[in-house]
Amino acid sequence: MRRYQLSAIGILLCGVLFAGVAEAGRDQIIAAGKNEYNESCKACHGATGKGDGEMASLLVKPPANLTLIRSRNNGLFPFWRIFQMVSGVEKVEGHQTIQMPKYWYRFREQENLPGYDLANQRILAVTHYLESIQASD
Ligand code: HEC
Repeated sequence: MRRYQLSAIGILLCGVLFAGVAEAGRDQIIAAGKNEYNESCKACHGATGKGDGEMASLLVKPPANLTLIRSRNNGLFPFWRIFQMVSGVEKVEGHQTIQMPKYWYRFREQENLPGYDLANQRILAVTHYLESIQASD
């Protein structure tokens, strides 16, 4: 009986610990995405993602407000579509005029340099960051 109680507590503790670890991992990924964003996206999309970066006025097409992606998509954040838009690997319908660098190609060039993560990993992190800054509706 006592043994069962102990293992129940053990399982509970593991669950709590695991949740804590998962939470920390999530925060780390979002923080990495934010760094990446500030480095590569802020100039056009603005510090808060609303499309008001200092380069915005120089572009033919205004940079999108990235905090409204979820509300533009019926309340669902289209994670992989956004991933592909950012990477530039796949053409996205209606975005042929995109004046945005194709980050997958750009990041691939840095991939083997010290201090740089894999291109996919960096785009994943930035996509998670974008998901985290969606305006609440
Ligand atoms: C040189 C300026 C510029 C930079 C730098 C830039 N973007 Fe963009 N971005 C744009 C413009 C302009 C559009 C709108 C293009 C269009 O609609 O054809 C856009 C559109 C987007 C879209 C599509 C939004 C939607 O809902 O249609 C996403 C997502 C996006 N950018 C994310 C990013 C991320 C993430 C980065 C950095 C890794 C970045 N952008 C860097 C100019 C830029």
